[in-house]
Amino acid sequence: MPRVSVVSGAASGIGRATALLLSERGDVVIGLDRDATGLAGTAASSHPIETAVVDVTDSDGVRAAIDAAVARHGRLDVLVTAAAIGLPGRIDEQPEAEWQATVDAVLGGTYNCARAAVPHMRRARSGAIVTFGSVIGRTAIAGFAAYGAAKGGIEALTRALAIDYAADNIRVNCVIPGSTDTPMMWFGVDAADLPALRARVDAEQPLGRIADPVEIARVVAFLASDEASIVTGASLVADGGVTARASVSY
Ligand SMILES: NC(=O)c1ccc[n+]([C@@H]2O[C@H](COP(=O)([O-])OP(=O)(O)OC[C@H]3O[C@@H](n4cnc5c(N)ncnc54)[C@H](O)[C@@H]3O)[C@@H](O)[C@H]2O)c1
Repeated sequence: MPRVSVVSGAASGIGRATALLLSERGDVVIGLDRDATGLAGTAASSHPIETAVVDVTDSDGVRAAIDAAVARHGRLDVLVTAAAIGLPGRIDEQPEAEWQATVDAVLGGTYNCARAAVPHMRRARSGAIVTFGSVIGRTAIAGFAAYGAAKGGIEALTRALAIDYAADNIRVNCVIPGSTDTPMMWFGVDAADLPALRARVDAEQPLGRIADPVEIARVVAFLASDEASIVTGASLVADGGVTARASVSY
């Protein structure tokens, strides 16, 4: 019987790559996103993907989408929570509403998805949840306080859920991507500036290049799989070496 996997943020970037990879490997995949056009693009791929247009800040909407998936397929094996936004700004300059919107989408969205998924997984006494942190949740870059705080919170939430539901055989782990080639990475960059910026960012990485979304998707797929059967409460860094490197050269 195929696994049933729900992926939030499936309209774009890493969430899309994860939805496609899990489908390619045989899962029934339900992609959630607020971007209906992007979701349609994901669903138009050669791998079958079911979709539900939902905003992850809407707890009732998330619960309805996940309950509907379980009603159709009888089970929920995997939840991946990739949906996020990252509105920039220092706290004395960023409108409070943007701080709140970022925390609500990133941390609150992860909470809403996990809260809707856990009862189904507890009933089955089995499940795997993969959340998304970020290098910026561990090391600060200027002007991303809200995003960094929310991403750091996701790592704490991941550990808490891992401990709370270990006895129910639900594993909960976090992937920590570094710079990855997605629309979020290049948000606000002029198309004309992109090649030079891309070359500079690639050169800054210890491995000499940023990640392709499918490289992060493969890490997610590992954490969601039985290959990771003893892994829970972990954060797996997939950042090309960025956080391993000292910031001084002596
Ligand atoms: N790209 C990077 O360099 C990078 C680095 C570290 C972490 N991440 C994390 O990886 C994950 C995927 O990011 P990405 O780079 O693919 O970004 P992306 O912008 O390409 O995709 C994010 C998706 O989330 C959706 N989304 C945002 N807010 C939503 C909401 N409230 N409800 C439903 N859907 C919503 C968007 O519509 C979009 O489809 C995110 O959690 C991000 O924080 C990305």
